[in-house]
Amino acid sequence: MAKKIVSDLQVKGKKVLIRVDFNVPMKNGVITDDTRIRAALPTIEYVVNHGGKAIVFSHLGRIKEEADIAKNDITPVAKRLEELIGKPVKFVNATRGKELENAANALNEGEILMFQNTRYEDLDGKKESKNDPELGKYWASLGDVFVNDAFGTAHRAAASNVGIAANVKETAAGFLLEKEIKYIGGAVDNPVRPYVAILGGAKVSDKIGVIEALLNKADKVLIGGAMMFTFLKAMGKNIGTSKFEEDKLDLANELLAKGKGKLVLPVDTVVNKAFEDVKGTVKSVDALDADDMGLDIGPKTLELFAKELNGAKTVVWNGPMGVFEMKNYAAGTIGVCELLANLKDANTIIGGGDSAAAAESLGYADKVSHISTGGGASLEYLEGIELPGIACVDEK
Ligand code: 3PG
Repeated sequence: MAKKIVSDLQVKGKKVLIRVDFNVPMKNGVITDDTRIRAALPTIEYVVNHGGKAIVFSHLGRIKEEADIAKNDITPVAKRLEELIGKPVKFVNATRGKELENAANALNEGEILMFQNTRYEDLDGKKESKNDPELGKYWASLGDVFVNDAFGTAHRAAASNVGIAANVKETAAGFLLEKEIKYIGGAVDNPVRPYVAILGGAKVSDKIGVIEALLNKADKVLIGGAMMFTFLKAMGKNIGTSKFEEDKLDLANELLAKGKGKLVLPVDTVVNKAFEDVKGTVKSVDALDADDMGLDIGPKTLELFAKELNGAKTVVWNGPMGVFEMKNYAAGTIGVCELLANLKDANTIIGGGDSAAAAESLGYADKVSHISTGGGASLEYLEGIELPGIACVDEK
């Protein structure tokens, strides 16, 4: 069964509640990456172009104490949405109350309203994050139908997604959520084979569930990033001063045993004597000195990965291959971007987080089939966990 999509709804003249994930990175009140806002535009545009009255809302950051309120004011995000969509966005600086209710009721067809950070409600007993039933009901009362387009938040059962869905007649997925389900859900449920996963990033502990799930599902699992050193150390190799997780060595050994024939580890690495952006030396993983720190995968590993990827029809990649923020240690991550970009007739999916940011900043965003907007959500989805933000959307 497929999920109902926003285009399956009659939106004309209706107040359409649209939950988006505009939890964008900000520095001193300035948005540093607006990818998530751009990614939700097709849904908002569809609603307003079809005569709907769009009520858009999102969380931003985490609200634990009074001081977090000012830091996570969502006003700059509403402004950015206005610029990107090229239409006025009315803004209500509240998450409930008369002003919000009046603004929602006063909307004309094709107009857009945004209200304040849904997590402002967390200051009072975590009402948003813990899905307070009254809050979900209240927000639902502001509109007629509900569209969930917040994939990044789909692993959280909050008042602003499942709480609202439980209190409206109709819930549909936005186009972004639909795309995430198609690509990530497709890789999980029905991957076209050969299916190759590439995992990187700093820690094995962040990705245990995903590694285990992919060892069951994928045909090959290629490992890079600092997490490779936990595996190499577990194999008894000298990893010098490279980062690794002492308390995950047993687990790494278990995964190595389980993944025999599937798990592919780097054969070379680019090392330096310190964690700094100066030219490194390529060494075999069997030839590290005591003071060598591995900061990227090496060229022979990229050749090996190219061989493993040859003919792959589904590729999922999560986690950078090295310290790509330093130009001397970005080659492995760029190399994997290239490998994905050059694959023919394959579904190439970048599973969010740092690898998504890397692919965007390195200019590969439009050279792969899909870059997920989720961090934690894409990991849980890849793990095969049912996401509440998807489960709450009606079936067709
Ligand atoms: C994310 O950025 O992963 C989502 O917006 C969820 O944010 P959270 O981890 O604060 O719930």
